[in-house]
Amino acid sequence: MTVHFIGAGPGAPDLLTLRAARLIAACPVCLYAGSLIPQEVLAHCPPEARIVNTAPLDLDQIMAEIAAAHAQGQDVARLHSGDLSIWSAMGEQLRRLRAMDIDFSVTPGVPSFAAAAAALGAELTLPGVAQTLVLTRTSGRASTMPAGEQLETYAATGATLAIHLSVHVLQDVVARLTPIYGENCPVAVVYRASWPDQRVVRSDLAGVVAALGAGVERTALILVGPALAAEGFEESQLYSTGYDRRFRPGSLLFPQES
Ligand SMILES: C[S@@+](CC[C@H](N)C(=O)[O-])C[C@H]1O[C@@H](n2cnc3c(N)ncnc32)[C@H](O)[C@@H]1O
Repeated sequence: MTVHFIGAGPGAPDLLTLRAARLIAACPVCLYAGSLIPQEVLAHCPPEARIVNTAPLDLDQIMAEIAAAHAQGQDVARLHSGDLSIWSAMGEQLRRLRAMDIDFSVTPGVPSFAAAAAALGAELTLPGVAQTLVLTRTSGRASTMPAGEQLETYAATGATLAIHLSVHVLQDVVARLTPIYGENCPVAVVYRASWPDQRVVRSDLAGVVAALGAGVERTALILVGPALAAEGFEESQLYSTGYDRRFRPGSLLFPQES
């Protein structure tokens, strides 16, 4: 018996990986994490599957579901939105599974920041502008930020910030970032990236609160940084005529690396 942790992607059902769909179809039990998992993804479950929304359950109750499946020898598909490596609560479940000596696997999913960047039609790392993307959040009721992991610290690097779980405190985010990035720094808010009701708001730090308006309290990403509106950036060396690379030898710049 195995618990298969599966990143279910940002929302669009066709952004599920082929491996995820195959595993979901093979598991008689499916535990899924709330409203961010679309019905079309659950439709991959076998007809008689036990399908449980874990949003109202606590960790003990979730582990009890897994223990019951384990006792029956039934594999479990454990679905979380986006990818599992960020804000999925997978870590605490894996720790319990290790203690219970229950096997597990992990299947990555498309993270929401990637879906948001796709919605913007944007590369978040542009040569000479930003070469670092920071996936971060602000303190919430469930998790406070460790000392040192403050928005201001990351902003000081000039990197592109992908700020999760924070659209409800957008005004505060703007107030904290404006002294560092300046009020003309580009910002995008992407609500429900890849869902049919996706919404994209582009603005700058001075205007984003008004541009977004009221009503968006969750399931949105705030992207901030000069790379979001840069036009005059350098072209990367990768495709430049004089750059030697393995499949396009031609220059003698770094022959030992070709
Ligand atoms: C609990 S975290 C889950 C993150 C997820 N594991 C991932 O890989 O993106 C939930 C936060 O991710 C962001 N998020 C998740 N899905 C989103 C989507 N489709 N569009 C925009 N933001 C999304 C929002 O900031 C939301 O508050």
